[in-house]
Amino acid sequence: MTIMTSCGDQWQLQRYPKIANDPLQAWEAADELLHQCMVERNDQAPLLVNDQWGALLMPLAHQQVASVSDSYVSHCAWLANLEANQLTSQLQRITPLDPLPTMTDVVYLKLPKSLSLLEFQLAKLAAELPPQTPLFAAAKSKLLTPSVRALFERYCETVEFSLIQRKCRVVSATLKSVPYAANAFISQWQLPEYQLQLTHHAGVFARNQLDIGARFLLAHLPPAGAAQVIDLGCGNGVLGLRYAQLSPNSRVHFVDESYLTIASVSENIATNLPNSSLYTVAVDDCLTAQASHSADLILCNPPFHQEHVITEHIAQQMFRDSKRVLRKNGELWVVANRHLPYYHSLKRLFRTVKTVAQNNKFMIYQARG
Ligand SMILES: C[S@@+](CC[C@H](N)C(=O)[O-])C[C@H]1O[C@@H](n2cnc3c(N)ncnc32)[C@H](O)[C@@H]1O
Repeated sequence: MTIMTSCGDQWQLQRYPKIANDPLQAWEAADELLHQCMVERNDQAPLLVNDQWGALLMPLAHQQVASVSDSYVSHCAWLANLEANQLTSQLQRITPLDPLPTMTDVVYLKLPKSLSLLEFQLAKLAAELPPQTPLFAAAKSKLLTPSVRALFERYCETVEFSLIQRKCRVVSATLKSVPYAANAFISQWQLPEYQLQLTHHAGVFARNQLDIGARFLLAHLPPAGAAQVIDLGCGNGVLGLRYAQLSPNSRVHFVDESYLTIASVSENIATNLPNSSLYTVAVDDCLTAQASHSADLILCNPPFHQEHVITEHIAQQMFRDSKRVLRKNGELWVVANRHLPYYHSLKRLFRTVKTVAQNNKFMIYQARG
């Protein structure tokens, strides 16, 4: 299913990167409900927030439109879907820490999975856009929990929830003027056993505590000495930071698809590592931008969620990219929940796959060759 029909129009819409016979659709009923709001209004300068694959962008592509998302993969999807529909666009792509366009006359928002990200986004909208700017948000009704509703009440007025249509609701509101302290959305915690202090912007993975899979890999890291290391899907960077402490001559490159994550990891490098010229950071979709045969060691605690969808496809893409990027004798170290079938995926790609450690929840694999 790649043809989206909504409000009398049709678009070719796919998730990104494109997968042959992808069983997952690139839009949902909540997108169509927001299309109906768009049709009823005459917006001059809409701002889209968290438009995952470009469904909200399609009907607005012919006009001035701005779209903000923390996901680099979403930014890529917007461009790919515009191209697939031969739409030339005046799209202004925005990352979460950029200033919002002050000309915005309406906001269309899809609910992110992370409550901290939603609060940061609502606070920024309320602080930077004129009070009374209309906002329409849509989501599956079950996601509009009391905590989510309380956030809309805090940053908006005249908040109304529509009746349920196709399991979704639209929240209609206007923005309130609320004082904004960017630091309020940053969380910090320490790992005294490794002398690490970690800072997290809103929505960053494990922003309240160390992930238990990461803790297991930290206890079984590969020996020091790899020249070029990649922390793939780095989150706060805890794996790469610890390896860098143990192996001070290694160069470590931190990669993630989230802009707020990469902003966090840059701060964590500056706080925790003495010689920051050895370390680099980048937003990327897995290792798409990384040169082949350019790394000796890749550390990876792969995601198995993409927003609300449970999926193995990102992990599989990470493994394929790692195979291409590793030098001869290079190693990929993966920590994963033991129920996930990663051993077989790795075995299909790499000559040797060893289990280096396991407990009742996790496996650590070393793949090479
Ligand atoms: C399970 S978390 C691991 C984070 C960190 N390494 C740790 O162990 O705490 C997976 C990370 O992968 C990132 N990620 C998801 N999709 C990605 C993609 N396509 N390319 C790069 N990183 C991605 C997520 O943003 C998240 O930070």
